[in-house]
Amino acid sequence: MRQAGRYQASYRAIRKQVAFFDLCKTPELAARVTVDAVEQLAVDAAIIFSDILVAVEAMGAPVQLTEQGPKLESPLRCMADVEALRVPDPVQSVPFLLEAVRQARRALDGVVPLIGFAGAPLTLASYLVEGGHSKNFEQLKRLLLCQPDAAHALLDRLARTVTLQLQAQVEAGCQAVQLFDSWAGILSPADYREFALPYTRRIFDELKPLGVPRIHFATCASTLLEAMAETGAEVLGVDWRVNLSEARDRLGPDVTLQGNLDPACLFLDEERLEQRIAQVLQSGAGRRHIFNLGHGVLPGTEEARARFVVQAVHRLGRPA
Ligand code: CP3
Repeated sequence: MRQAGRYQASYRAIRKQVAFFDLCKTPELAARVTVDAVEQLAVDAAIIFSDILVAVEAMGAPVQLTEQGPKLESPLRCMADVEALRVPDPVQSVPFLLEAVRQARRALDGVVPLIGFAGAPLTLASYLVEGGHSKNFEQLKRLLLCQPDAAHALLDRLARTVTLQLQAQVEAGCQAVQLFDSWAGILSPADYREFALPYTRRIFDELKPLGVPRIHFATCASTLLEAMAETGAEVLGVDWRVNLSEARDRLGPDVTLQGNLDPACLFLDEERLEQRIAQVLQSGAGRRHIFNLGHGVLPGTEEARARFVVQAVHRLGRPA
């Protein structure tokens, strides 16, 4: 999940000087933040420092990061708004991201693999239509249910943009890709099958020939696991609301599961934190399981706790 961020003193020091999206758009800094997280945490993989909303900006919808989270200047509400969005060529629209990937890959080559990422169409649509984060996703659901043609046109444009951006990240050096459908869990299983699954499957189908592992992540999605597995992803990332052994029973032996410690457990003392880590490893049972948090590191987390998690997983998860 997200590993660089405000809980790190080194990140906060850079952010004192540079606005968030300027940081994403400065390859030297984005690569440095990526590499810093690997060096400080001793994790087994790096995720490139960027944001899912970089793609939204590239399509022609400017985004600001405010105290309340991301904000779009003019949220989309109808077909004409959708038709004004571009499906941009990443080489022209996100050169900074591709250069950050090249620099981070050079620094990490032979150390840990580098993961590229993007937001899934439904989650990106939620920001475009709501204009920011939302509690009930009222405007997004209005569009999906009341203007399905406009909704599908939007999701189609997003899927094409995301496919191109992920392909370009792999060409620039990413060795795996992760697609974040953070808010897919707001949909009923039937609506997930109509508005999310076909687009995610298309993105993953088009990435398959590149031969890199494809990771699919959603939160609050325990009712959607079987459908998420139909996207063709090699790895499903799940949050702590799902029991890993139950997920394994439902999905069979072939898919790899990633997760799923509740990030709030990093507020526990070391002894109790270690018990929680051991429980996650046990429910993953060492079978096609990548230990991870169930969502990003919370901003109030102590850095030492994040390092402790990695050390404990290495100690407990790799028996001598
Ligand atoms: O090192 C890493 O883990 C990579 C960086 C990364 C960021 N965003 C940086 C970031 C990744 C993988 C993301 C993905 C992302 N962005 C998602 C999907 C994953 C998830 O957490 O569900 C989503 C939904 C977003 C959209 C977004 N960006 C939100 C909702 C916010 C504000 C909320 C928050 O955590 O502050 C952002 C800003 C953001 N993206 C920050 C970081 C480090 C905080 C920026 C800051 O204040 O400096």
